[in-house]
Amino acid sequence: MTSILNKFPNQKTPRKVLKTKGVYYYLDKNEKILDFTSGWTGYANLGFCHPRLVKAVKEQLKKFSHIDFNIWHNPNAEILAKKMTSYTKKNLDKVYFCGSSGSEAVEAAMKLSYQVHFDQGKKKKINFITRFQSFNGSTLQAISVSDLPVLDLYGKLLPKNVYKISQHNPFAKCNFDLKINKCKCGKHYSNCMGKMTSENKTSYTKRCVEEFENAIKKLGSENICAFIGETQLGSLIGDVPAEKNYWSMISKICKKNDIHLILDEVYNGFGRSGKIYNFMWDKLSPDFVCIGKNTTSGLAPLSVVLTKSKFEEIIKKGSGRIRSGHTFQGFALGIVACLESLKIFEENNLLNKININSKYIVKTISEELKNLETFSNIRGRGYGISVEHSTKNNIEFSKNIYQKMFNKYKILVNTKYHRTSFTPAFIISKSKIDYVLDKFIKTFKEASSKKY
Ligand SMILES: Cc1ncc(COP(=O)(O)O)c(C=O)c1O
Repeated sequence: MTSILNKFPNQKTPRKVLKTKGVYYYLDKNEKILDFTSGWTGYANLGFCHPRLVKAVKEQLKKFSHIDFNIWHNPNAEILAKKMTSYTKKNLDKVYFCGSSGSEAVEAAMKLSYQVHFDQGKKKKINFITRFQSFNGSTLQAISVSDLPVLDLYGKLLPKNVYKISQHNPFAKCNFDLKINKCKCGKHYSNCMGKMTSENKTSYTKRCVEEFENAIKKLGSENICAFIGETQLGSLIGDVPAEKNYWSMISKICKKNDIHLILDEVYNGFGRSGKIYNFMWDKLSPDFVCIGKNTTSGLAPLSVVLTKSKFEEIIKKGSGRIRSGHTFQGFALGIVACLESLKIFEENNLLNKININSKYIVKTISEELKNLETFSNIRGRGYGISVEHSTKNNIEFSKNIYQKMFNKYKILVNTKYHRTSFTPAFIISKSKIDYVLDKFIKTFKEASSKKY
């Protein structure tokens, strides 16, 4: 009997991994799997065990692995913070090294936002506005601003100071009828409420923004702390960027009403979108940006919140300290791995390559699959792309694709619910992309010829 408390106790023990390198998993039975997911959850931006990251971590280990963030200064942290803020042209000029996980970054941003208001005497600003179909992490605070059915179990434990508005997903078609407040398809509206059939992109965006304005009217801006959302809806929905102008309108409303804008880029930031930060596609100036998960390619976890020095000034004069922290804030091994990652991005012009290859992937898939009834769309940015399918049994269709790709072609793709997400490592070669696309297109066509 295993001594591991398994997350999925009813399932078979997963396959044993002996080694990972580049874009490959080496399994028992001499099997090798090509990873098109950057480690399934998108953390391994530079693939597994990148030699330069390994070297950087080994060198750092000779000095120290970690020093307490509260009492010591690590000069590498300063170098990294300067680097990370430089991409925003000092618009976001401070980095808070908050901990290890993305959830910690989300919690830190929420706490910072609250504290900034509190320290200015705006003590009623306690509410967060978020969107249905979001995922912002697994701690109770992060779950409270998420909307993931498997986490509903914890509903009674969650803070209540959260108000949810519609997701912003122009790819979700919806027959919602505002007059009767019901969706004609019968689904719970949070699962369904995307762009209505009667709307175009502009009117859809306008409605989503109006919903935010209505929420402010209902709650009162004096009671609202922040709006929190993923800049690009992530793996749950399948890589959906917001419509043009959505974020700039949300941002304007936030500023007018003294509400902070917190963007969660844990999944879709740090280069994944083809720009270093995803919000840069929209020329925004958010107040807090959560970064984590993919900062070090898995060498040592590190998460941060990007923010503004004006907030530090407020805290300096107010509480005098940030009232939150974790033991492994600013983990020194993570800092060197993150710094080295940025050097590798720049020296190899990786973001530019991502954008070129991304367009190629979208074009190839669209051309090959566009005439199939099972193909809905392909969307995303950079190496955060999803192919959506539409069948009578989407889950079975997904299983079929996943298993065929894995068992027959030895490729790991992230296929679940209604889509396949392509989140390859930034270092993947064009020939490997071609190989995966060829096998995926074959598999998708074969699956489409079956009945679901
Ligand atoms: C958008 C987003 N936010 C937050 C998180 C939480 O990150 P972590 O699992 O590192 O706590 C995730 C994790 O997948 C995520 O995708």
